[in-house]
Amino acid sequence: MTAAPLDNLFGKQILLGITGGIAAYKSAELTRRLRDAGAEVRVVMTRAATEFVTPLTFQALSGNPVHTELLDEQAEAGMGHIELARWADAILIAPASANTLAKLAQGRGDDLLTTVCLASEAPLAFAPSMNRAMWSDAATQQNCASLRERGYHQFGPAHGEQACGEVGEGRMLEVEQLVAATAALFHSGVLQAVKLMITAGPTYEAIDPVRFIGNRSSGKMGFELARAAQEAGADVTLIAGPVHLDTPPGVSRIDVESANDMHQAVMQHLPGQQIFIGAAAVSDYRPASPRQQKIKKDADTLELELIRNPDILSEVAASFPRPFVVGFAAETDQLEHYARHKLQHKNLDMIAANRVATTEHGLSVGFNSEYNALHVFWRQGEQAGEQLIPVARKRSVARQLVQLIASQYRQQRDAQDTA
Ligand code: PMT
Repeated sequence: MTAAPLDNLFGKQILLGITGGIAAYKSAELTRRLRDAGAEVRVVMTRAATEFVTPLTFQALSGNPVHTELLDEQAEAGMGHIELARWADAILIAPASANTLAKLAQGRGDDLLTTVCLASEAPLAFAPSMNRAMWSDAATQQNCASLRERGYHQFGPAHGEQACGEVGEGRMLEVEQLVAATAALFHSGVLQAVKLMITAGPTYEAIDPVRFIGNRSSGKMGFELARAAQEAGADVTLIAGPVHLDTPPGVSRIDVESANDMHQAVMQHLPGQQIFIGAAAVSDYRPASPRQQKIKKDADTLELELIRNPDILSEVAASFPRPFVVGFAAETDQLEHYARHKLQHKNLDMIAANRVATTEHGLSVGFNSEYNALHVFWRQGEQAGEQLIPVARKRSVARQLVQLIASQYRQQRDAQDTA
């Protein structure tokens, strides 16, 4: 993997967990360095950590209130454990004590930090810091192995002189190393330098100067895909319908309104694109003759003649040279049937099928929701069983989909190279 540029941290929301250890003083500098790289930092301290450095220090350095208590009425009213878990783009525990690692390994949530970790879907990393004997203890080693297996990233520890006077493995990594490792969390490099275009959001089809035909797409899925692809190293162009979302850092955005505008923008920027993802909910029809003046409500009924819009995805798939083309299918029923039909009919390389529904737990997924779940199909296969992307926040779903796209894209490219 290539070294991650530090500007990968720009605009990222890092939750820094500090546990009780002498290296907690280094986390003051770590907070500063993360902010220097453009990250926003919120600090959660365990009670033991506050014995080493005061919360006030981290409040001043992070520019945000420090969170210490799980059951703090005031904190829960402001930013409680669930909000903190959702807020974080990544969680870094530095220093991570043997005690906190043991609690995380057991899945315990008896303080704010461990509870936030349990509730988070963001990448989690820990930087162990402890005496060399504690570090080499079989229990600590087993706990770390179990965390790594569950997807936690382990940063260090380093070898060297320890606060207790002994020499050995167990020192927390240096601040620069931790900043670089945190930046790398947002830089899988799986799409390094790949040119990728995404459509997102709804389209508005004018009826008259004030009215339009639209749909409930918020653009969140497409914007999260743009963010995830950029983090994976891609050079991302995002063609956005009318949405109220901030542009993910490092992404080039082109705003459009109608399907025709989107079609034009896509075709204009298509040459050179290696991957195309159609996440937009493009209106299939538009009023044949949008009125120049506002329509008056004189008549009891009103007829609108609609005509077909261009199918952007199909046209991209029919272009030459063609990019790797990924479509979406949002369906209320027969998800697999319709998704497979679109894959074939539109000549796609891959299709991500999402159900427009409310889950058994009352969570709405798909359109205009924070959540989604995907079943992905490609020409020679599909995700099976446990590989399906289960209901999760769209940021997490997007990261998983980008990994899958990258792996299928690479397989196809390698096959073409050897053909
Ligand atoms: O925006 P959000 O609120 O986050 O919601 C995300 C989403 C549910 C809108 C998204 O995940 C999604 O599923 N988008 C596709 C919606 C859909 O139903 O598309 P479709 O079945 O009409 O079209 C299939 C594919 O063809 C899509 O990739 C679409 O972008 C593309 N298409 C469709 C029509 C058209 N004229 N041009 C196209 O490119």
